[in-house]
Amino acid sequence: MSSTLSKIRIKKDEAYSWKNIKPIYKAVQQIKNIDIIDIKVVFDDTIYISTTQNIKSQDKEAIYEALRLLIPWRKGPFDIFGIELQAEWRSDIKYNILRPHFDIKNKIVADIGCNNGYYMFKMNQDRPKKLIGFDPSAVYKLQFDFLNHFIKTDIVFEMIGVEYLKLYNHKFDTIFMLGVLYHRPDPIGTLKQLKNALNPRGEIIIDTFMIDGSDDICLTPKQRYAKIPNIYFIPTVQALTNWLNRAGFVDIKVLHISQTSSHEQRATKWSFNHSLDDFLDKKNKNLTTEGYPAPKRVYIKAT
Ligand SMILES: C[S@@+](CC[C@H](N)C(=O)[O-])C[C@H]1O[C@@H](n2cnc3c(N)ncnc32)[C@H](O)[C@@H]1O
Repeated sequence: MSSTLSKIRIKKDEAYSWKNIKPIYKAVQQIKNIDIIDIKVVFDDTIYISTTQNIKSQDKEAIYEALRLLIPWRKGPFDIFGIELQAEWRSDIKYNILRPHFDIKNKIVADIGCNNGYYMFKMNQDRPKKLIGFDPSAVYKLQFDFLNHFIKTDIVFEMIGVEYLKLYNHKFDTIFMLGVLYHRPDPIGTLKQLKNALNPRGEIIIDTFMIDGSDDICLTPKQRYAKIPNIYFIPTVQALTNWLNRAGFVDIKVLHISQTSSHEQRATKWSFNHSLDDFLDKKNKNLTTEGYPAPKRVYIKAT
């Protein structure tokens, strides 16, 4: 492992001492002392974690308290010892769209922008050789640590962003980068980083916001897009294909296109009290509050 990467990791770990992260970190550390035997995990659309054991009331309280401190839960759903954790996103919808399009058994796999690991926990059922998630957020890393304490996988979570992928000590057979490209100010550069991190014959599966049309163009929001601050480029499928070609990808396949619904993205008591419905024009659900086309995603596979 490069020493630069070790330094970045140490620097990222400093986040645990920040004022807003420290109480969450401590709550998750406390959870790691709870030893529940007979844990059963069911990987359905909801990931269910349960036990036949009677959980001590103080452990139950600690679990509930940690789950509350870990808000916002953006990806899910989970059911944790009977607590229905409805995340902002029904991530099962995206997962089920992609599921028929990958085979990761014995592969070295990365999930870039993995959030709390919802997809990785499900992907791990396919027995990849290695599964590594990359996400720079300390809160999502702590959500992952909480979940993984009970699910008990050997998935690795790196609290670093896609920009550090080049420092990683090995390459990947399959890279997922879902819902991240629009957050990058240099999308072609980011795609090149993915390309350089792939083994020969490796593949990427990505999804990103798109606009309709057959021209080679993209939308650059003036400020926010659907109230999201850090959205840079929203291409047509043709423009995205050009980006992929220019980054060196071939065999580019569009897997799916869909407009986000308020069934998939909604406000819940475990996330925020505002969500997609508040980000769209009240009179025209096909427009954002800023007057741009409402969020639509394209799912792509390329080698
Ligand atoms: C819109 S969410 C998508 C989450 C998940 N991949 C999905 O598709 O449902 C974007 C995720 O990317 C992460 N992220 C932000 N900047 C990143 C970066 N530079 N590299 C990798 N991930 C990043 C965020 O913390 C967040 O978890």
